[in-house]
Amino acid sequence: MTGAPDPTKAQKGLAGVSVADTRISKSDADGSLIYRGYPIWEIATNAGFEETAYLILNGKLPTGSQLESFTEGLRERAKVQPKVLGIMRELGRNADPIDVIRTAVSALGSIDSEEDMQGKQMSLEAKMSVLAANSHRVPRGEAPRYPKRNLRFSDNLLQMLTTKEATEYERRVFERVMMLYLEHDLNASSFTVRAVASTLADPYAAASAGLASLKGPLHGGANEAAMEMLLRIKDPAKAGEFLKVAFKEKRKIMGFGHRVYKEFDPRARLCKEYLREMLTRRGGDDTLYRLCEAMETEMWREKRIPPNLDFYAAPIFYSLGIEVPLYTPIFSACRIFGWMAHYNEQLEDNKLIRPDSTYVGPSALKYVPIEDRTLG
Ligand code: ACO
Repeated sequence: MTGAPDPTKAQKGLAGVSVADTRISKSDADGSLIYRGYPIWEIATNAGFEETAYLILNGKLPTGSQLESFTEGLRERAKVQPKVLGIMRELGRNADPIDVIRTAVSALGSIDSEEDMQGKQMSLEAKMSVLAANSHRVPRGEAPRYPKRNLRFSDNLLQMLTTKEATEYERRVFERVMMLYLEHDLNASSFTVRAVASTLADPYAAASAGLASLKGPLHGGANEAAMEMLLRIKDPAKAGEFLKVAFKEKRKIMGFGHRVYKEFDPRARLCKEYLREMLTRRGGDDTLYRLCEAMETEMWREKRIPPNLDFYAAPIFYSLGIEVPLYTPIFSACRIFGWMAHYNEQLEDNKLIRPDSTYVGPSALKYVPIEDRTLG
C-alpha cells in the first residue's frame, strides 16, 4: 500500500482508515496484539480475567485492593431482574440468542436502577455473562442459571453455560480464551459502540448496538459458523475435499481471514496450543484438533489465509461441552468490557462520528408525475 488513503474517495469497509486515537489496544499486520501496552501472550499467560478487564477499562493493572473492589462491584451487580428474564422467556424457543441478549440489554436500559455512569457500565459488564448463559435456555422455557458467589468470573460463566465438570486446566483455558475475546481495537462492534457513544446515547444503547454488530458471521457469529462447519466435515481426511468444493462455489470459510492479521492471528495461535494441550491431557480422541490443523494447512497452502481466533476458540468451547448457539453470546460476555473501554475513551474527547460519503448517483433529475412513470 502506498501512503494514506485518499480522504475524498470512499474506502470500502474503512480499510486502512484510522478513525480514532486509542490507548486501549492495538492489533498489527505482523501478528502482534497489545492490551494497554502489554503483549497479549504476557497477559494471557500471567493475568486473570478480572485483572485483564480492569486493565482494559482503567489503563493499569490493579493493585490487590483495586482488584478486590472491582470484583466485588461486578458480583454485587450480577443479579438479573426477573422482569428481564421474563422478557427473554417471552421471545420463545426459536429466538436467536444474540437477539435475546440484545432485547434483554434494551430492557435493562429501561429498568436498571443504577444512577451513575460507572454503575450502569458495571451492571452491563456483570449481567452480560448471566444474559449470555441464559440466552439459549430461558427462551426455551428452561430454568435460568445464576452465578455463584466466590467463583472466578470465568468459572462462573462456565458453570452457567454447562454442567459438564471441567478440570482446573480446562477452566484456566476457558479463562484465557475469555481474555482473548475481551478486546480487539476497532473491530466492527467496538466501532459501532463508539459511533453510538459519540451521539451521547447511554451505555445500554451502545451495548445493544454492539450486539447487533457482533451477530453477523463476518464478525462474532463466525465462531458458531466455524464449529458447525467442523461438525459437518468431521474427518481430517475430508478437509481438502471440503475446501476444494467451497472454493469452487466461492464460499468463505468461517474462522479464516482477518482485516488486520494476514500472516497469523496471535489469539488463534494461543488457542490452537490450548486446544492441543487440553486434548492431550485428556488422553482421548484428538480428531477435532487434527481436523482443525488439516483445515489450517490446506487453507494456507491454497489461499495463504490464516485461521482467526474464532476458528480455534470454537473447538475449545465444544470440547468443554458448551452448546454451539452459545459461542457468540460468550464473545459478547467478554467483549462488553472492551466496548465500555471504547465508550469511555470516545467520551473523553468526543466528536460526533459523522463521516462523509462520495455521492455517485445521478443529479438534477426532473420530477415525473406518478401517472407518467414507466417501469425500468
Ligand atoms: N474464506 C475464503 N476466502 C477468504 C476468506 C475466507 N474466510 N477471508 C478472506 N478471503 C478472501 C476474500 O474472498 C478475498 O479474495 P479476493 O481478493 O479474491 O476477492 C480476499 O481473501 C480478501 O478478503 P476480504 O473479505 O476482502 O478481507 P476483509 O479484510 O474485508 O475481511 C473478514 C476480513 C471479513 C474477516 C474475512 O476474512 C472473512 O469473511 N472471514 C470469514 C468470517 C470470519 O471468520 N470472521 C471472524 C473475524 S475475527 C473475529 O471476529 C474474532
